[in-house]
Amino acid sequence: MRVHVADHPLVTHKLTVLRDETTPSPTFRALAEELVTLLAYEATRNVRVSPVTVTTPVAEAHGLAIGDPRPLVVPILRAGLGMLGGMVKLVPTAEVGFLGMVRNEQTLQPDIYAERLPDDLANRQCFVLDPMLATGGSLIAAIDFLFDRGAVDVTAICLIAAPEGLEAVKKATEGREVTIVLGALDERLNERGYIVPGLGDAGDRLYGTV
Ligand code: URA
Repeated sequence: MRVHVADHPLVTHKLTVLRDETTPSPTFRALAEELVTLLAYEATRNVRVSPVTVTTPVAEAHGLAIGDPRPLVVPILRAGLGMLGGMVKLVPTAEVGFLGMVRNEQTLQPDIYAERLPDDLANRQCFVLDPMLATGGSLIAAIDFLFDRGAVDVTAICLIAAPEGLEAVKKATEGREVTIVLGALDERLNERGYIVPGLGDAGDRLYGTV
């Protein structure tokens, strides 16, 4: 598993405002999208491309086009939805699928309660959006689901991760082509499963408590 933690003052500045508990939802939403766009730049470094030739007013120019099959972007509901706009702004030709996860209170494992993805992901590159990599449970379940459908590589974009969750994802995805791109790697998880210092509940801060 490859891990890339963004090391850029723009990312840290925006994350700092995002963490601030006085930042209201509209600002939080705008910043989350801007952050994803910055992280997506790094996350798409190995996106599949094909050579193309265009004609400029002066001569032929050899370039690249984002490939066939198109990358698949998968926000994890609900908080991952807050990252979708920023991602498709940067990769407008991507296809978008959805995965909804909820914690099963008996098994404490994430269950998939909603899924809207192509049946066959053979040869597809997938980009999972999940703002908070806490215990890693839902990200591991999402990555397993995508590989079981045939995906060849999965990149997760997360705003903040806890070291415990990152380690869990690393163990669970050994031998698979997985990349994690982060805005920040925080200190730890607390006893309630929140990232410290983190930013609280990302879904609540994006959408208000429901
Ligand atoms: N999910 C969140 O939204 N925040 C955390 O700190 C952990 C999980």
